[in-house]
Amino acid sequence: MEYYFQDKTLGPAAKVTFPWDNGFTPEDSYEYYKDKGSTAVPGFEGNFVDWTHAVSKTPMLKAQHPEFETWIDGPHGAAGVTCADCHMPYIRVDGKKKISSHHWTSPLKTIEQSCLQCHADKQPEYLKERVLFTQKRTWEQLLIAQENSVRAHEAIRLASEYEGERHPDYDSLMIQARELIRKGQWFWDMVSAENSVGFHNPVKVVETLARSQQYSNEAVRLAIQAANYAIGPELEGDIKDIVPPIMEHSRKLQQSQAHLDSHKWLRYLPLLPPAEPLWDGQEKLR
Ligand code: HEC
Ligand code: HEC
Repeated sequence: MEYYFQDKTLGPAAKVTFPWDNGFTPEDSYEYYKDKGSTAVPGFEGNFVDWTHAVSKTPMLKAQHPEFETWIDGPHGAAGVTCADCHMPYIRVDGKKKISSHHWTSPLKTIEQSCLQCHADKQPEYLKERVLFTQKRTWEQLLIAQENSVRAHEAIRLASEYEGERHPDYDSLMIQARELIRKGQWFWDMVSAENSVGFHNPVKVVETLARSQQYSNEAVRLAIQAANYAIGPELEGDIKDIVPPIMEHSRKLQQSQAHLDSHKWLRYLPLLPPAEPLWDGQEKLR
């Protein structure tokens, strides 16, 4: 979920605002951001914008740890099972006293205490398998949603640079396509930034990914239409040929023009002035 801090003029400074006025679905929070910003980008006037995608020039949102809104209407949230029930189970320290564990780790490491208090009729191995069953399927669909989103950014890029005859409704089609990318990526992010890989709410999460895929695919379709179907062939093929190899990119590399020339997407990034690195992995150098 994207938590933003209210402007000082609106009340107490640094007050975290939760986007839950409309409800807890990704659609609800997506709608919430429509009038919470000040961007003047055509088609997105007044929207809240976290960052603009360099390649497709789409105003984007960023989700941050949406565990709460994922859990709340899932099998456990709906039944009133709290975060602490699973994540801070009681652990006996001296054989007598029960204290709450304050180590927030994976409940799969403490299945006895975390799950069997309620699922006493089940074997730990069975419960773990159920979690992994959900996580595997969620992960697979997450990767597909991600690929569809990348292809959509590429479609918008191609359509926005297309110099042939454009569709009569070009501007409107491009706004719709960007809106669908923004939405598709928000839905993807609501799962990607959620740390249970689907377990907190299996059905909702898979539905969210299905919608993400649908929005991104529709964005591709509209961009192709905007360019009068001329860019279709360029969007075929392996996604890895479209997106730059992310592991071969860094702030240091962005200081090199040769690096920025090495992939069609990197051409959209500004060349950074030479600077010594501040970090080496986790270590601060200066
Ligand atoms: C029914 C038990 C249960 C409830 C209730 C629950 N979780 Fe989880 N949570 C899990 C399981 C299982 C995982 C997956 C752990 C793994 O992949 O190893 C997980 C993963 C996480 C993670 C990733 C941490 C890690 O070590 O893997 C976070 C963060 C988290 N949950 C937060 C929350 C929050 C916040 C709530 C309440 C809004 C909540 N959980 C409710 C069972 C639960
Ligand atoms: C405080 C009680 C409680 C705790 C703790 C709890 N559960 Fe549940 N669990 C429930 C309830 C209630 C349901 C809903 C179905 C039902 O009524 O049996 C449920 C349903 C489930 C289901 C079937 C629904 C689904 O999501 O696929 C699984 C699997 C499950 N729990 C696994 C776990 C695991 C794994 C843990 C520990 C990480 C855990 N539960 C901890 C009460 C609990």
